[in-house]
Amino acid sequence: MLTPIKTPLWDALRRHSMGNVGFHTPGHNRGVGLPTTLEDWKEIARFDLSELEGLDSLHAPTGVIAEAQSLAAEAWGAERTWFLVNGSSAGIEAMLLAATRPEERILIPRNCHQSIIHGLVLSGAVPVFLEPAWDPQWQLAHGLTAGAVDAALRQDPHIRAVLLVHPTYFGAVGETRAIAEVVHARGLPLLVDAAHGAHLHFHPELPECALTCGADLVVHSAHKTLPALTQSALLHQQGTRIDPERVARALRLVQSTSPSYLLMASLDCARAWMVEHGPRLLGQTQALAERVHQLSPLPCLRRDRCGLIAGLTDLDPTRLVIDVASHGWTGYAAEEWIAARYGVYAELGTFHQLVFILNTAHRPADIDRLLSALSALARAPRPLLPAIPPLPPVPPQVFSPRRAFDYPHGSVSFEEAIGRISAQTVSAYPPGTPVLVAGERVTSQVCNYLDAVRECGGWTSGLTQDGQLLILLD
Ligand SMILES: Cc1ncc(COP(=O)(O)O)c(C=O)c1O
Repeated sequence: MLTPIKTPLWDALRRHSMGNVGFHTPGHNRGVGLPTTLEDWKEIARFDLSELEGLDSLHAPTGVIAEAQSLAAEAWGAERTWFLVNGSSAGIEAMLLAATRPEERILIPRNCHQSIIHGLVLSGAVPVFLEPAWDPQWQLAHGLTAGAVDAALRQDPHIRAVLLVHPTYFGAVGETRAIAEVVHARGLPLLVDAAHGAHLHFHPELPECALTCGADLVVHSAHKTLPALTQSALLHQQGTRIDPERVARALRLVQSTSPSYLLMASLDCARAWMVEHGPRLLGQTQALAERVHQLSPLPCLRRDRCGLIAGLTDLDPTRLVIDVASHGWTGYAAEEWIAARYGVYAELGTFHQLVFILNTAHRPADIDRLLSALSALARAPRPLLPAIPPLPPVPPQVFSPRRAFDYPHGSVSFEEAIGRISAQTVSAYPPGTPVLVAGERVTSQVCNYLDAVRECGGWTSGLTQDGQLLILLD
């Protein structure tokens, strides 16, 4: 008989939720005291407990959390796994705090998530940005090549660590396995933001998991692609290049002292579910994705593009990237249009694309609805597509993000900001990666680009509420 897949944390939580009286946090008292407007939550709130006897402690685990974390490590093939209750963002910050010290240099692809810049503010490390090759047809940056990383490390022997994104928001992976070899050959650690790749390990036809590629620290947003609650995520480690005690200390800085047991139990159960059913379910998910690829009236980013662009070695087929610009739509307008008319919600609309995440819960009927929405979109009258300038060159770096954070700052118009040093990291869609990093000098190209994005209905993060830039004061 097969041994049932264990869920030690969830089991302990269930036991604790029955027959006890609590005089402790949280103040809704096991759901009993929830406002009547939240009546529907009562069933779940029973399990919203705190660090009680038998429920262990996230920051010093020796019981059920320790067991659940080590089952997660085993499931992903890591040596150690930590549960995260503040998303991958917290894991990325902890990874940077653990692997770098103030003023140390770290190689980072420019198409990184803003949490990486936030991690640099905390750690004080200095980013050395590497720009991935641009895919002109899809207007996207994908992954990095081992050659580019090797050249960057040769050029700057003071770099102390390398960080990669694997896969990107658009499902792309670069030469991560070969990069791990290049980085390790110099005795440096490889950190990977794999926020979008928690599911990859569970199906052989998906792109390789960053851990299998040899990364030292890997962050997974369980909540993005697994059946887990929002904000639940994982930080995995293997090898001896990073001190695990330093990772645990860093996590204490960025995670709550009252971690949500709902989130941690959802990690415990999502892991058990994926171990048991992941391969079968992900097989079905890929079949559904293939159906969209076959029937979509709009072009989909497909695996046959791999190898045509440097740094694009594989694509996650469960990430649907649909080119709507080819039919005269911006992704922003298309996103609103299909939501309003078909109740179909995309993960993301960029200037050129719509991005949909397929997960193990999707059913053929969901795909039919998506295809109907795409077909209608392709037939609908096409608004005139405004022109958007190419991404501006990376502006000159004057200060590290940490030093920029420490300076007094003020807000000014775009015009006044040109030539000044930015106090804030500004990202724009497309493609959602930093256009201006805190500590960089504001250029006219950056301002023109941000203006154009806003005029096209895109959005930016990092500007003040009235749309100004934050700059350092002299
Ligand atoms: C590439 C990437 N890394 C990290 C994050 C942060 O993940 P989380 O939302 O789990 O904190 C995101 C979020 O969208 C992301 O897209």
